[in-house]
Amino acid sequence: MKLERAVVLSQEELYENTYLMWLSSPRVAKSASPGRFLMIHCGDADEPLLPRPMSFHRFRDSQSERQFAILYDVRGRGTAWLSTRKPGDGLTNFGPLGRGYATNPDAQNLLLVGGGLGMAALIALADQAIVAGKSITLLQGARTAVKLYPTDLLPPEVEALSATDDGSAGHHGYVTDLIPQHLSWADQIFACGPTPMFAAMANVIREARSRKPAQALLEERMGCGTGICYGCAVFTRKGVRLVCKDGPRFELRQVFS
Ligand SMILES: Cc1cc2nc3c(=O)[nH]c(=O)nc-3n(C[C@H](O)[C@H](O)[C@H](O)COP(=O)(O)OP(=O)(O)OC[C@H]3O[C@@H](n4cnc5c(N)ncnc54)[C@H](O)[C@@H]3O)c2cc1C
Ligand code: FES
Repeated sequence: MKLERAVVLSQEELYENTYLMWLSSPRVAKSASPGRFLMIHCGDADEPLLPRPMSFHRFRDSQSERQFAILYDVRGRGTAWLSTRKPGDGLTNFGPLGRGYATNPDAQNLLLVGGGLGMAALIALADQAIVAGKSITLLQGARTAVKLYPTDLLPPEVEALSATDDGSAGHHGYVTDLIPQHLSWADQIFACGPTPMFAAMANVIREARSRKPAQALLEERMGCGTGICYGCAVFTRKGVRLVCKDGPRFELRQVFS
């Protein structure tokens, strides 16, 4: 996999501890799509050694070039370093990697379910689907109101509902509580979030005796991102699979049954 240099176009703290960074890396952007990811070296020298996986958050065409954004939380030293980058700085990266979301051309009503920073990967899908004339309902869950993705940044056609664990905005409870009332409407479901959210989703869908197709983007710690180190192996109904190469998109019921 060829290393690329991305140039930071802008960087802002969009909401509490969550940063939006626009990047120019034309060769990576060219074949990037919602649900795929890139690996970014997050340090000045070899520390930390391993690159960090980041989803493609949004795309735009600017100055006859396709650009993309990442949305990230500062969690540890790699993302802390990333948050100090300024416009004009360079980032070593490679990608795009993995298998992203696959929208069925016949599916008109798409239900998107995001938990926490799972929103990072869902917005590009919402943007793309709106342009394709689909109807989108987006359910997002967060710990508390300040950790919700700002809905005024969504395409206006998206119907957005929120849930917070502490009840400070939207439904008081988990985002998965909102799924049953949209199940019969949805032709296809797309999710990104923490593992417990996927497990709860699988339960909700099973209890509703629904067979609606649902795709989940799994998050595992990654070493290489390219199928070499086996650091991201997960058990599925079809055996062991690598999140970086076979995923990160999996059928929900293939992993959470
Ligand atoms: C396919 C994929 C796409 C991702 N997309 C995004 C994204 O768009 N935005 C974003 O903010 N993050 C994303 N992540 C997670 C991101 O890669 C980690 O947050 C990042 O590597 C943390 O690096 P760090 O050096 O700051 O933290 P570290 O010092 O490496 O770790 C700090 C803490 O974060 C936890 N952590 C680190 N990596 C992961 C992980 N992969 N999953 C769960 N917990 C982890 C560690 O256990 C530790 O508690 C993605 C991960 C994957 C696998
Ligand atoms: S991260 Fe190395 S095999 Fe997936």
